[in-house]
Amino acid sequence: MPKVPPGVGPRFPQVVVLFGATGDLARRKLLPGLYHLATAGFIPQCRVIGVSLDDIEAEAFRTLARGALNEFFARKLNDADWQAFAANLDYVPLSAGAGALRAAVDRAEQSLGEECRRLHYLSVPPSAALPAVHLLGEAGLVERSRIVMEKPFGTDLASAVALNHELHEVFAEEQIFRIDHFLGKEPAQNILAFRFANGLFEPIWNRMFIDHVQIDVPETLGLGKRSGFYEQTGAYRDMVVTHLFQILAFMAMEPPTSLEPAPIGEEKNKVFRSMLPVDPAHVVRGQYVGYRDEEGVDPESETETFIALKCYIDNWRWAGVPFFLRTGKKLAEGQRIISIAFREPPKSMFPAGSGVGAQGPDHLTFDLADASKMSLSFYGKRPGPGMRLDKLSLQFAMHDTGLLGEVLEAYERLILDAMRGDRTLFTTAEGIERLWQVSTHLLESPPPVRLYQPGSWGPKSIHQLIAPHAWRLPFERAWRAPNRLGG
Ligand code: BG6
Repeated sequence: MPKVPPGVGPRFPQVVVLFGATGDLARRKLLPGLYHLATAGFIPQCRVIGVSLDDIEAEAFRTLARGALNEFFARKLNDADWQAFAANLDYVPLSAGAGALRAAVDRAEQSLGEECRRLHYLSVPPSAALPAVHLLGEAGLVERSRIVMEKPFGTDLASAVALNHELHEVFAEEQIFRIDHFLGKEPAQNILAFRFANGLFEPIWNRMFIDHVQIDVPETLGLGKRSGFYEQTGAYRDMVVTHLFQILAFMAMEPPTSLEPAPIGEEKNKVFRSMLPVDPAHVVRGQYVGYRDEEGVDPESETETFIALKCYIDNWRWAGVPFFLRTGKKLAEGQRIISIAFREPPKSMFPAGSGVGAQGPDHLTFDLADASKMSLSFYGKRPGPGMRLDKLSLQFAMHDTGLLGEVLEAYERLILDAMRGDRTLFTTAEGIERLWQVSTHLLESPPPVRLYQPGSWGPKSIHQLIAPHAWRLPFERAWRAPNRLGG
């Protein structure tokens, strides 16, 4: 078993109660993530109890978990590790009730034989969250426990406030971990390192020097088996009010007094408090052609599978700087970028036809793909006589450093943090409620959905939304392939 440095894992053995254990997220991320954490030695003392609506036995759950690993575990599966992990899996159907769940947790805790902690993971749609919370209360599983709540946290301001209120009747706020897996991505945390550990860019990280910002997360994926969830959710609630706004906060926040949960949470919340309400006139909602024919989708559905919008943070640092956000399903490319466009200098000294400014402003671009990439584009002189300018770039790829090694996947990192009680990368109730508040007008008066072709970049009106600027994607120049170390 690989050695995990001391202090990285949780102090106590863990019993994980996984609600939604047979669902899409559990299969893609949570079961593979728990397997990796357990077998790599991060949580050597761990039992997992699956819970879901499916009336199956523990053995069938193990088979499902094995299938999920075969399909989604990115590393090499090892049979001995699997046998050990499978022996620690149990299952309780929801229909068996609180007594059966309690008995399964008791069994797991006895087998661990020491003082344990419980991690309840609610990988369920918003409507199923509170019933699960009440079941845990009824089963007497609140003590010594933490609860991880999946997004969307509520569906609007009123439901988020009500959810927090009811949640607090069972769990104390310190026990609640509202997860946003984008914050568990290494490149997202690298935004903080990049901004605050370097003197280079922070002095120009404001409205005086930055013209506009794009946070662009197109996906090629469709809905898979998630149409039921997605029909009630849509792209805005699924991606923007959660992931994209969280990334925006990392990008826009003031330096926190320390990298502790409370100072970081406070600075992020200040960004959200300064956000102007999202104006429906600055929003393009789209739906891909064919969505309404999918199983589980209303043939007259108005749910958006695409959204692009412009928003503003009305504070001293950012007043007047537009932030453009875009995400959607079945688009031309899968990308996750943040692109910062700097203000342009006067160009009058360059001769006509020099090409200065012809390829847009200088950009700093962060790629939030699994391994960080960054680029800084600028104009430079084309070698030769005269003064002809080309857009050039400096590029960095974490791949090239050889430091990637045993990177934890976003969910793995966050599950481990929750087990250790570290909420630095989790969202706060206040922040989430404020984000619903700035979304109220849009949710009440959404613009009509416009159709787009699968494989495109969304409805045509996205260009009007961003004019006189232009979307960075698709990139005019591809990223350079990372160097092969030693190659
Ligand atoms: C999830 C959304 O939270 O994030 C999905 O529900 C989306 O719709 C996914 O596809 C994207 O996450 P990642 O980590 O694959 O970029």
